[in-house]
Amino acid sequence: MRGVERVGAISNNTPCITVFAFISLAIVVLALITNGSKNLSLFSLPSSPWTWTPSSSSSFFSAFSFNHSSPPSPSPTNPKTALYPTFKNAKMQRAVAKMVEELDRETMLRRGKERDKRIERIEAGLVRARALIREALTKSRISPPLVEDGDYVPQGEIYRNAYVFQRSYMLMESMFKIYVYEEGEPPLFHNGPTKDIYSTEGIFLGLIESNTHFRTYEPDEAHVYFLPFSVVMILEHLFDPITRDKAVLERVVGDYVRLISTKYPYWNRSLGADHFMLSCHDWGPRATWYVHRLYFTSMRVLCNANTSEFFNPIKDVSFPEINFRTGNITQLTSGSSNRTILAFFAGRMHGFIRRPLFRLWENKDSDIRVFQKIPENSSLSYNEMMEKSKYCLCPSGHEVASPRVVEAIYAECVPVLISEDYILPFNDVLDWDKFSVRVSVEELPKLKEILMRIGNDEYTLLQKRVREVQRHFVVNDPPKRYDVFHMTIHSLWLRRLNLRINF
Ligand SMILES: *[C@@H]1O[C@H](CO)[C@@H](O)[C@H](O)[C@H]1NC(C)=O
Ligand SMILES: *[C@@H]1O[C@H](CO)[C@@H](O)[C@H](O)[C@H]1NC(C)=O
Ligand SMILES: *[C@@H]1O[C@H](CO)[C@@H](O)[C@H](O)[C@H]1NC(C)=O
Ligand SMILES: *[C@@H]1O[C@H](CO)[C@@H](O)[C@H](O)[C@H]1NC(C)=O
Ligand SMILES: *[C@@H]1O[C@H](CO)[C@@H](O)[C@H](O)[C@H]1NC(C)=O
Ligand SMILES: *[C@@H]1O[C@H](CO)[C@@H](O)[C@H](O)[C@H]1NC(C)=O
Repeated sequence: MRGVERVGAISNNTPCITVFAFISLAIVVLALITNGSKNLSLFSLPSSPWTWTPSSSSSFFSAFSFNHSSPPSPSPTNPKTALYPTFKNAKMQRAVAKMVEELDRETMLRRGKERDKRIERIEAGLVRARALIREALTKSRISPPLVEDGDYVPQGEIYRNAYVFQRSYMLMESMFKIYVYEEGEPPLFHNGPTKDIYSTEGIFLGLIESNTHFRTYEPDEAHVYFLPFSVVMILEHLFDPITRDKAVLERVVGDYVRLISTKYPYWNRSLGADHFMLSCHDWGPRATWYVHRLYFTSMRVLCNANTSEFFNPIKDVSFPEINFRTGNITQLTSGSSNRTILAFFAGRMHGFIRRPLFRLWENKDSDIRVFQKIPENSSLSYNEMMEKSKYCLCPSGHEVASPRVVEAIYAECVPVLISEDYILPFNDVLDWDKFSVRVSVEELPKLKEILMRIGNDEYTLLQKRVREVQRHFVVNDPPKRYDVFHMTIHSLWLRRLNLRINF
């Protein structure tokens, strides 16, 4: 069979004799039973070594936490298209149905045609990488050898599976290639903000432009293709705050995809699935809406990783928001060993999570310091407050992400995450529950009780792990191994491993 490949054929590529083969086989069989011949598709996921099992919190997916007794279920993906979850929203259902139709049509058109040799070569490399990661997964269950590796070896509780992460990371370093489309001019393209709340957008754009390790100028050897527009810059330069016409996003992003999809064969070849965009702006997701393929099929690296806004953790990457107020990226503060404040938050009142927080805790309790603005007569500045607090509250505001999460990590203050439908950055690798505390909106009245219940020993452990995780959130220029730039690249690498392009 050419052009298209049955999902079942994938198990041929996995000589692995472990339980994974059985499980993937089970999924394949299940998918075949439920879907019959409709199961042909340009994309497939089942060769993935990751499991995507929703955990107890609303939409939390984890990759490295493989669990024998609960084999991954083929939901929440539609087995026919692999990438598209089933949305409850009727408008989304129609949009997805239309794309599934296009996908079917495309699959039929390509049947019997010669396969693209270049993508076959790329896919063959990925098959090997998956097999090696699976092998690491098996070894990690017995007693994984310590693999010495230059400056850093991931170890400890902060990782879901440190050994598998290391294997995957090293494979990424040796294989992963990113092509950056050169079309487009600054200030809207190849450029972005490097100060304030959206600065990670500009920092990433700058670092990938000058990167010599992952960036390739040879598109045929790339695993992923980057669309280097900046949503912040488009809005800053073209958005009229009076008319508030969002069509500027549609125009710029739509034109760009049209340009690269006519000029190059890569977008059409994968229907956009191996392409990615990146934005830290609240409107990042909205900017992709105008090109449905970009929205539903491409990888989107977003600070606004809100599953209720159709962020899809199978293909999208949660990107940390870091507020570099002065543009100085070296902001680690050693913190104080004398933390006399139990919990601290200062920020404006917006969004449905902060309202109850202020109602319940603003000026209510001397242990829980919650301010809209730090009082003029306060002896402590914002940063000093963070350094003197045991816990730093990180409630979502207008959007799910908050720069306070990383600020807390920098200040060695244990983050208290208060959000809904937020997929945390790097959560497929990092086990957030080991270095943060989660409090739901319903639990807010009991906030103090919950924090007081955490004993001294447990707190010391949490804080030690906050220090351990710092390296993954630090920005370096030029980037250093395992820093925030590399963790973002690794998240993309995982998404690409999760995808098999059958054409
Ligand atoms: C696997 O999942 C089951 C059921 O969800 C749970 O009881 C068990 O503790 C898990 N095992 C591991 C090793 O996480
Ligand atoms: C990709 O598809 C679009 C829409 O069908 C078409 O206009 C364009 O010419 C195609 N690109 C290439 C390189 O063939
Ligand atoms: C950036 O911050 C670091 C640490 O606080 C400081 O040592 C350095 O001088 C700052 N650099 C600039 C350009 O402000
Ligand atoms: C800790 O800070 C408090 C208040 O700022 C101060 O009264 C106390 O002496 C400090 N303790 C130590 C051990 O530094
Ligand atoms: C700061 O000012 C407020 C009123 O604006 C007052 O209630 C509070 O006691 C003052 N705090 C100190 C430390 O002076
Ligand atoms: C997440 O998205 C939903 C749907 O658009 C929205 O109602 C909600 O306010 C968002 N969450 C946050 C914290 O912004």
